Amino acid sequence: MKKVLITGSSGLIGSEAVTFFIKKKFKVYGIDNDLRSKLFGKKYSTKKFIKNQLKFKNFHFFNVDLINYKSIEKIFKKLNFDLIIHTAGQPSHDWSAKDPVFDFKTNALATVNLLQLTRLYCPKAIFIFTSTNKVYGDLHRSKFRIKELKTRYEVFDKKNNLFSINENFSIDNSIHSPFGVSKTSADLMVQEYGKYFKIKSATFRCGCITGPNHQGAELHGFLSYLVRCVINNKIYKVYGYKGKQVRDNIHSYDLVKMFWEFYKKPGYGEIYNAGGGRKNSVSILEAINIIKKISNKNYKNFKIINKNRQGDHIWYITDFSKFKRKYKNWKITKNINTTIVEIIETLKKI
Ligand SMILES: NC(=O)c1ccc[n+]([C@@H]2O[C@H](COP(=O)([O-])OP(=O)(O)OC[C@H]3O[C@@H](n4cnc5c(N)ncnc54)[C@H](O)[C@@H]3O)[C@@H](O)[C@H]2O)c1
Repeated sequence: MKKVLITGSSGLIGSEAVTFFIKKKFKVYGIDNDLRSKLFGKKYSTKKFIKNQLKFKNFHFFNVDLINYKSIEKIFKKLNFDLIIHTAGQPSHDWSAKDPVFDFKTNALATVNLLQLTRLYCPKAIFIFTSTNKVYGDLHRSKFRIKELKTRYEVFDKKNNLFSINENFSIDNSIHSPFGVSKTSADLMVQEYGKYFKIKSATFRCGCITGPNHQGAELHGFLSYLVRCVINNKIYKVYGYKGKQVRDNIHSYDLVKMFWEFYKKPGYGEIYNAGGGRKNSVSILEAINIIKKISNKNYKNFKIINKNRQGDHIWYITDFSKFKRKYKNWKITKNINTTIVEIIETLKKI
């Protein structure tokens, strides 16, 4: 049996990857230290997924902190992994501004720890990293023409064509937030271990990822948190841009399918943008309307605050055509409506 190590195995992407690779008959090893409950509160703990995962006899779990090199080394010494999917991380801009040192250790140092251990103990393994679109910072606004439409901002290139962000975009000279920089550092290290040390690896620069396992909190996981607010008629605070800020959304299942395709045909230090693309993009105002329609709720409890979060994108839509050109089998299988329906159904069961 092939062995996969999944870090952040109780989180949104990690837990989706655990389910996927159990079905593919891998021996699955998860690492998670329930950081989400420390950052956002017990309500958002991801521990609840572990009990179910442990029902599968090919799942094994380690509650360790990836910052601790010695603890992780013990695991790498025992197990010769074929695949490493590194999803663990500190996900919030606001938290990174409160404690940049902790953020850097969690996002950057932990990634180098894993890369170095891969190099030492399983150099043939394939290493997949969940990076972020925040590597592109606040997107050099001067290069775009941003138009304000009725329910969203939209971005056009110089020829007046609708636009989306590909991998050639610069990562320099813009505001990223400390989170954006710690993830960019990790992203560059993944590339470097690929190109310099010849570790088969890829960094997936993700837009908004979501799905029923998302423990969406105010500071991270916008769509999942918004659905919770609409369903429970709780106040949702929109930070700036009049609620017209745009994000594309991808279901965690479709992201894990990207990892699978890469595993079957890997490269060295590859970079791919990963997101739902234009068809699955929404502004917050549009998202509220879709959720209201699907859930049949007359929600009005959102509050628009004038000031946006520093470094927050006014608009971001992923161009995933580079990945699609190389991995022709891959496609989006769950659009934004299906994803919202799944989140609502899961919340009803809680
Ligand atoms: N969800 C998104 O919209 C999104 C978008 C872009 C990038 N990403 C990136 O993808 C990754 C996964 O995102 P997610 O939504 O699944 O996050 P998540 O918070 O749901 O899951 C991350 C998991 O990692 C664990 N973890 C964190 N630090 C750890 C450490 N030091 N040791 C052991 N476990 C640790 C947490 O306990 C948590 O269960 C993150 O690194 C994030 O930066 C996510």
